[in-house]
Amino acid sequence: MADVTFTSPALPKDVTVYAVAGDTRTLLSVAKEHKVPIHFECENGECGSCACEVSVLTGKTPLGISLTEKEKTVLKLAGKITSQQIEDAEVRDLPPPWRLACQFIVRHEDILVKF
Ligand code: FES
Repeated sequence: MADVTFTSPALPKDVTVYAVAGDTRTLLSVAKEHKVPIHFECENGECGSCACEVSVLTGKTPLGISLTEKEKTVLKLAGKITSQQIEDAEVRDLPPPWRLACQFIVRHEDILVKF
C-alpha cells in the first residue's frame, strides 16, 4: 500500500488515500475515484492540463520511472521540465518534479501531489 496525499488550494484540506499494492492505475484515475478535483481534459498525455508536482515522502530514493515521449514533450512545452531533468530520468531513473497525472502510474511509495 502507498499513501497518496493530494494538496491544493482547491481542497479545503489535504486528502490522503491509499493505493493498493500492485495497482497499476494512473494518478488521475486514483484522484477521480476519490473525487479529488485535478483538472484534466484529454486523459491521453497530450494537453498538459493535469500537470502536478509530485514528491516522494518516504525519504528513500524515488523508484525508477520511465517517461513516455508524450509526457516529455508536453511537460517541456509547458516549461515544467528541463532538458537536464529529462536526461536524469532517462539515464539515472530520477523522476522529475512535475508529472502528468494521466500518465503517472502510482507505485508502492508514499507521495505528495500538489496541483
Ligand atoms: Fe491531458 Fe493529462 S489530461 S495530458
